[in-house]
Amino acid sequence: MATLAFKICIMQLKTLAILTISNHQQFYILNRFDISSTIKHIYHMGYASELTVAARGHGHSLQGQSQTQGGVVINMESLQEPLMEVHPLELPYVDVSGGELWINILHETLKHGLSPKSWTDYLYLTVGGTLSNAGISGQAFLHGPQINNVYQLEVVTGKGEVVTCSEKQNTDLFYGVLGGLGQFGIITRARISLQPAPKMVKWIRVLYSEFSLFSEDQEHLISLEKSFDYIEGFVLINRTGFVNNWRSSFNPKDPVQASQFISDGKVLYCLELAIYFNPEETTAMNQKVESLLSELSFIPSTLFLSEVSYVDFLDRVHTSEIKLRAQGLWEVPHPWLNLLIPKSQISYFSQEVFGNILKDSNGPILIYPVNKSKWNRKTSFITPDEDIFYLVAILSSVVPSSTGTDGLQHRLTLNQKILDFSARANLGIKQYLPHYSNQEEWKAHFGPQWELFVQRKSAYDPLAILAPGQRIFQKAIPFL
Ligand SMILES: Cc1cc2nc3c(=O)[nH]c(=O)nc-3n(C[C@H](O)[C@H](O)[C@H](O)COP(=O)(O)OP(=O)(O)OC[C@H]3O[C@@H](n4cnc5c(N)ncnc54)[C@H](O)[C@@H]3O)c2cc1C
Ligand SMILES: *[C@@H]1O[C@H](CO)[C@@H](O)[C@H](O)[C@H]1NC(C)=O
Ligand SMILES: *[C@@H]1O[C@H](CO)[C@@H](O)[C@H](O)[C@H]1NC(C)=O
Repeated sequence: MATLAFKICIMQLKTLAILTISNHQQFYILNRFDISSTIKHIYHMGYASELTVAARGHGHSLQGQSQTQGGVVINMESLQEPLMEVHPLELPYVDVSGGELWINILHETLKHGLSPKSWTDYLYLTVGGTLSNAGISGQAFLHGPQINNVYQLEVVTGKGEVVTCSEKQNTDLFYGVLGGLGQFGIITRARISLQPAPKMVKWIRVLYSEFSLFSEDQEHLISLEKSFDYIEGFVLINRTGFVNNWRSSFNPKDPVQASQFISDGKVLYCLELAIYFNPEETTAMNQKVESLLSELSFIPSTLFLSEVSYVDFLDRVHTSEIKLRAQGLWEVPHPWLNLLIPKSQISYFSQEVFGNILKDSNGPILIYPVNKSKWNRKTSFITPDEDIFYLVAILSSVVPSSTGTDGLQHRLTLNQKILDFSARANLGIKQYLPHYSNQEEWKAHFGPQWELFVQRKSAYDPLAILAPGQRIFQKAIPFL
């Protein structure tokens, strides 16, 4: 498919020497003017051309969102400018290319003792890819998602214009693009806010057998003024080896004790916490941890502690990636389902989904709350109505040759059951990294925000050239 798209595009475009379509193709250097002139060319052909343009970050979206049929796929990682530049001012920031990987930003900013504030669990994702969604991890309760920690963007719109935007300049485009699913422009540059980086992280896991105690503790911790630096959690459904599941390199100091905990048919909830520190602050940090933990209701014998470097903590999923790749278990289907669930419904949801619909899991199931007051509401990102909502990420893998209860179709059916249940029970959930097949469903997803989203589309990408893989708007069918 990608090759076909590339060929079509070579036939129709003169400027094509500069476009690349995937990591496996020949690598050309690309700059924002190349992107701009490509889009301008297509824009000026109007509806006479069926060409569309998909920016491809690291290509990690699951439903072809970074693809296009018979159009141009731009390999954003080949956008090598601007060179990353750290500005260690009073409010420090780094300027990066929209195709930059977060792991590279981490290493570069650390040279200045600085670091971005808000992350994703996995760092081999591009800036443009996560900022088009939200970028949510265990820091979001404190700093908001990644789209909340950006000062400025440079964007190439669906008309091919190169526009700089921020809270003060071209404000509507700025907020539109953040969480905008690639619909209004291609992010070519981003200015990301930084903070001093710690050297070390204390990483903690504790277990609960009752959901209510687990979620009360999570909600308590995110409400404190001085809390942990990272708060997540996950569900264990009939699983063994919880301390070392695939997505982390968590090695507790007492692995023997840890290995005794097997969820064995029961559902357990693991609260995952981290606190940042520098070696000279160890005593004060330990006191703070002790005091915070003393307020919680986990099963007392299930306190597992570990200390790792800041880089090892943030890059933890990559450690598992290396192991899984070695076993041929990385490049497998991932029928993932990410949901945002209002606090008032989370208990009912978990009872039905973890107690009834899912009998087992093949991959982690994350669950943690965030406070919407930390999220800028002007962005395109859609959340549930309540102030506190949970991210629930059911991150299944389908291992090769599996059929029956581990097969792809089985997992997709379970995902649909969860969505059907949520709709029937009117839980007011929203999908994160949303996927819908028709515009009616998109309208429902956006709710009262739909009108603004359509307005922005008509202002910045009136021919619906950009990010067709999201299947929100279709070129050649005017969307108004
Ligand atoms: C192992 C793993 C762990 C993950 N963990 C998290 C997590 O903890 N938190 C979280 O929030 N997400 C997480 N994700 C999901 C991830 O944020 C999304 O898959 C995201 O889309 C990936 O970015 P990408 O660079 O691969 O983008 P792609 O999948 O390539 O692109 C995503 C969308 O953005 C568009 N796009 C890409 N680049 C640009 C650009 N420069 N300008 C405008 N539009 C663009 C594309 O056209 C597409 O529509 C995880 C994914 C994986 C594989
Ligand atoms: C969410 O944050 C707001 C603003 O900081 C605060 O007033 C509110 O109490 C918080 N809610 C909870 C449940 O922590
Ligand atoms: C739990 O897993 C074990 C082994 O993986 C399996 O034999 C057992 O049937 C499972 N229990 C339930 C309740 O699904």
